Amino acid sequence: MKILIKRDVLFQHLSEPVLKTGHLEQLKEFKQHGKCTCYDHSVAVAKTALLWSMVLPFRFKQKQLVRGALLHDYFLYDWHHVKLDKLHGFAHPHTAAKNARRDFDITPLEENIIRRHMFPLTPIPPKYRESVLVTLSDKYCATKEVFTALAHRIRTGRPVAHLANMLAFIIALFPWT
Ligand SMILES: [Fe+2]
Ligand SMILES: [Fe+2]
Repeated sequence: MKILIKRDVLFQHLSEPVLKTGHLEQLKEFKQHGKCTCYDHSVAVAKTALLWSMVLPFRFKQKQLVRGALLHDYFLYDWHHVKLDKLHGFAHPHTAAKNARRDFDITPLEENIIRRHMFPLTPIPPKYRESVLVTLSDKYCATKEVFTALAHRIRTGRPVAHLANMLAFIIALFPWT
């Protein structure tokens, strides 16, 4: 429990310069997974990656880790409703990096975190250990958010919706079995 308090203090210190610019507030307008906004998702990814960096036996550049994680989904549109030329999963790291370069003074490491966080869906792997950590943290948080949303729908849904959810769940699992 102590480590979570330590992590939160460090997170507040490292994230403050990025959060206080106000640009990141825009992420509160867009939904990511279920009821979770892009802002909540980005903070969760940054906090999880920071916690892992504190317990793993490697040195991490924690300031850049947190900044890159906070900006990894800085694509600034609602991906559920916007029609794109390319699939959102492939296109958004590039858009997020472009927006981050415009609004923040980002380092090459931070840009690599943003551009490579969708690996292996996007084929070029992360270059730095900080980028690897954010890639893993993103998948971990996204999975948690999707399952939380699914559990909520099952609890509150009518029997038909319940059945549809179960079917969707089985279909989603099928390729992995
Ligand atoms: Fe993403
Ligand atoms: Fe993400």
